[in-house]
Amino acid sequence: MCGIVGYLGARDPKEVILKGLKTLEYRGYDSSGVSILNKGKFKRVRAQGKLSQLCEKLQNEDFDGHLGIGHTRWATHGKPSERNAHPHQLNHVNIVHNGIIENYAEIKEKLIKNGSQFESETDSELVAHLIEREMNFNASLLNATINIIPGLRGAYSVLAVSEKTPDQCVAFKNGPPLLIGLGEDEIIVASDIQAIISYTKKIIYLEDDEIALISPGKVEIYNFKGQRIEKSPVTVNWDASQIEKQGYPHYMLKEIFEQPRAVAQAIDPHIDLSTRKINLSGVGFNVDNFEGPEALDLKNDLLNTNEILQTIERVFIVACGTSYYAGMLGEYLIERAAEVPVEIDLASEFRYRYPVIPKNSLLIVVSQSGETADTLAALRQAKKQGALTLSICNVPRSSIDREAHGHLYMNAGVEIGVASTKAFVSSLALMNILSLSLAKAKGLLNEDLEKKCVDEIVAAPSLMEGVLAYDKFFAQAADDLKKKRGFLYLGRGVSYPIALEGALKLKELAYMHAEGYASGEMKHGPLALIDETMAIIVLCPKDELYEKTISNLEEAKARGGMIISIGTGDDERLKSISDHYLSLPETAWYVNPLLEVIPLQLLAYYVAKSLGNDVDQPRNLAKSVTVE
Ligand code: G6P
Repeated sequence: MCGIVGYLGARDPKEVILKGLKTLEYRGYDSSGVSILNKGKFKRVRAQGKLSQLCEKLQNEDFDGHLGIGHTRWATHGKPSERNAHPHQLNHVNIVHNGIIENYAEIKEKLIKNGSQFESETDSELVAHLIEREMNFNASLLNATINIIPGLRGAYSVLAVSEKTPDQCVAFKNGPPLLIGLGEDEIIVASDIQAIISYTKKIIYLEDDEIALISPGKVEIYNFKGQRIEKSPVTVNWDASQIEKQGYPHYMLKEIFEQPRAVAQAIDPHIDLSTRKINLSGVGFNVDNFEGPEALDLKNDLLNTNEILQTIERVFIVACGTSYYAGMLGEYLIERAAEVPVEIDLASEFRYRYPVIPKNSLLIVVSQSGETADTLAALRQAKKQGALTLSICNVPRSSIDREAHGHLYMNAGVEIGVASTKAFVSSLALMNILSLSLAKAKGLLNEDLEKKCVDEIVAAPSLMEGVLAYDKFFAQAADDLKKKRGFLYLGRGVSYPIALEGALKLKELAYMHAEGYASGEMKHGPLALIDETMAIIVLCPKDELYEKTISNLEEAKARGGMIISIGTGDDERLKSISDHYLSLPETAWYVNPLLEVIPLQLLAYYVAKSLGNDVDQPRNLAKSVTVE
């Protein structure tokens, strides 16, 4: 939820930290701050509001030191204010923290009894107090950290520095990500690779229960007990240009337009164009550490993905937000293609609902960031209960990716807009691949059908290109649409998750009331909402549910709502009952959702833009929700 950057090296720390925080602003943006060495002391500058406020304050500030830490915050404990902004400082110690210290009240009470005074309402400040106290008893920065960690409960990642050790920084984590970039004469620590990649591609991924002691040209890793661990950096292959806006006014619009490519990249590793066959290669189920020995009939020699899929009798899909809707599509596709029962759950519900996970179950977690706290907890819970797990992530080596037994990658490239777009379509495409692979493993996909499906899926990116042309329509329609009192998004079957996603996009970006509904459910309540102040967005492809959706739509029309329909080809009938009809090219029912979502994303984008909202960083939201 927050973004952390630390720098030790030859450049101006202010420049590196601010540039890094800019790339991390998506993680939180209600306040920010830096502490940078100047004449042997840490000079701290903080500001409420967006990062630009901090940049303004720092414009005329110079620092002569080469060590600094910075933070962009999304408030959990304590309201957004300068006082609650990080870094937190106590005498010579400065810290930045991402996550939640669950037992903070208890620790704080003890410290107050012993005479400590707190400046902020946060759970984070006490880390500075604890380290300072240890160092006052002559512990080194590293030892102080090792000593305080057993007393902390919760999910946290922290950077700590002290004026007593002006060439050292300590990083430790149990939960939210921390990466360490190793440059020529410099070391950069950050919550996300985006803050590091323009300096170096050599990265150490700090794991849970690890501490990094960073000093000039050197990183030493210890476990929480203080024992030294050997760890080599890996070289990553993302490049900095992927992270820029490239002429688009917003990242979100850029990412909407990147969707055809995102889908092509997602399916590429799993489709052999010469044989027109599907495969799940690269999933690499690692069952060596499988924790459910009784639960799944996996024999030692049974490590082939196809054979593993054959053993699956039940599928669970768990995710949050937009990823959850991608999972919903998975439910429709897998049940229909592979005839395996599927349960779909919100991660925040799954982890506390005492789920029954029968033998031979596969749990699929979908997460763009790979760091969503609830999804990660659900994954761990399912592993404990003996499920085989498969992650679908966009960020390789993220926590969820690392902890799952098998892995699929969205390959959407870096997604910066807080509201997810391209990662969503990549996930939808992977749900297609997965359902067909399962069907194949179960003997339910003959060669001809496989070839036909491959052709349909491979054609999706170019069909999506065409749908992007609705950009102009929504750019114009937005001024009228923004005057509506509310929006109802309707869909049935595989279009239902897309209706839900469309409504979510509008809520996230335009802050307007929007609901997604299964069209057949309209008469059970939402019909009462409809009058001429409502806009009804209906997904009505020419599929087996077409007639039923048309009658649902007639009911809405009779109540005076403004209707925008999204259908297939030249559909005169649908056109005649709609105020605006948007035609999508003909494609298979399982590919159609990839096309349908594009107009809905464009609608949300342009309405939000026309309202003057911050499209890339909507209020109150964060891209990566690493707390519960
Ligand atoms: C946040 C983001 C959403 C995202 C959700 C799940 O709420 O704002 O865009 O869909 O988290 O994130 P994940 O990274 O797990 O897909």
